Amino acid sequence: MTQSPKKLHIKTFGCQMNAYDSERMAEALQPAGFELTEAMDDADLVILNTCHIREKAAEKVYSELGRVRLNKEARKARGRDTMVAVAGCVAQAEGEEIIARAPVVDIVVGPQSLHRLAGLVADAAKGKRPVETEFPADGKFTALPKRTGGKRQVSAFVTVQEGCDKFCTFCVVPYTRGAEYSRPASEIVAEVEQLASLGVREVTLLGQNVNAYHGDGEDGAAWSLARLLARLAKIPSIARLRFTTSHPRDMDDDLIALFGDEEKLMPYLHLPYQAGSDRILAAMNRKHTAEEYERLIERIRAGRPDIALSTDIIVGFPGETDEDFQATLDVAKRVGFAQAFSFKYSARPGTPGAELDGQVPEPVKKERLAVLQAQLEDSRRAFDHATVGRRLPVLFEGKGRKPGQVAGRSPYLQAVYVDGPETLIGHIAEVDISAAGPNSLTGVMNAGFEWREPIRAAV
Ligand code: 5AD
Ligand code: SF4
Repeated sequence: MTQSPKKLHIKTFGCQMNAYDSERMAEALQPAGFELTEAMDDADLVILNTCHIREKAAEKVYSELGRVRLNKEARKARGRDTMVAVAGCVAQAEGEEIIARAPVVDIVVGPQSLHRLAGLVADAAKGKRPVETEFPADGKFTALPKRTGGKRQVSAFVTVQEGCDKFCTFCVVPYTRGAEYSRPASEIVAEVEQLASLGVREVTLLGQNVNAYHGDGEDGAAWSLARLLARLAKIPSIARLRFTTSHPRDMDDDLIALFGDEEKLMPYLHLPYQAGSDRILAAMNRKHTAEEYERLIERIRAGRPDIALSTDIIVGFPGETDEDFQATLDVAKRVGFAQAFSFKYSARPGTPGAELDGQVPEPVKKERLAVLQAQLEDSRRAFDHATVGRRLPVLFEGKGRKPGQVAGRSPYLQAVYVDGPETLIGHIAEVDISAAGPNSLTGVMNAGFEWREPIRAAV
């Protein structure tokens, strides 16, 4: 009799790097016989892949663990055992504390030790409660199994760089993800080729500071992100490349030029500016002024005028006055972002920002965030509406919300819905954009485009 597969449920919090890590954890556990399930109550192993960027992150994990415990008890009553692992940045930051505070937890594993997961599961099965939060010398990337790809996955993430040496004074990343590390280019090329052979058409390169990439190149020299992207663009069936998240200080000339020169590099750039006042930017240790940021945007737009710009902004950093906040609004207005993520400052223990005088009262932060978000929303809507009437190449990734619909992404990362057959999934086709809704665009297939025939790539 063959043993039925064990079930694995991963709940992912936070950024795309965590989404990538979750995929890799699932792949790392496949050889041990684990299959993914959407239902936690069906799972023999539950992993919480946690994020530490926001306030009370650890508390939220402990309350989530309360729900996991109830699930474990309910399964136990049905005669089923459940193993529980906490992964990600809260695991890294809390370590042993999780084992002490949450008896339900069997395994604690930091982001740098994912490749050891199968071994940790085996240890836990013997009754141990392993905690693995070292930054081990044996790289997790080389030790992880090959990519297997999700079901008909069209767009995939690939982490190329981890960690950060920038030490913005509000941010926990340099502490939770450690120092900057870039994967060797040959390893990344092999992973992307593997994904391409599985049908992936679009790859988003991930890193906390992705444009600081400086991995060993195939020729032995250190490669920049631009060099790496240009190399990946040579893989024939990869049609689209993206990358995130970038730091303004690391936008070099080659990378800026690539937006104009490499048609596979999509016209979308996520470039946080965090604040518009130079005094606040200095207190944040951002290493750039508002003027430098805006000049940089001008240079990027000179090479690629239609680029969609995205950003992160924090309101209410310690010492932020009404004038400082106005400067943040002004930058956003002048740039005109297609997309933006904005946050109230939250003091993170252990970061220099948490020690600063002049913490801004919560109601003020709340008010500023509401004002900012209203303005950003107008700007996003304006960008979306400007694409109505245009013909855009759309990479189709899956079924739409309604029957007979397919869903994809424009070059500017907008979700696009059209009526069309499922055979479009995995292909690029031209769409005449007819309307912009709150979260997506709708359009019609270009009439001259014969999508019932074998699809030709429009890009
Ligand atoms: N408070 C508020 N926002 C934060 N971010 C990072 N740390 C904090 C914090 N302590 C935001 C930044 C960053 C994004 C990922 O999260 O804008 O770019
Ligand atoms: Fe955090 Fe700043 Fe590094 Fe981004 S650049 S990960 S905000 S320290």
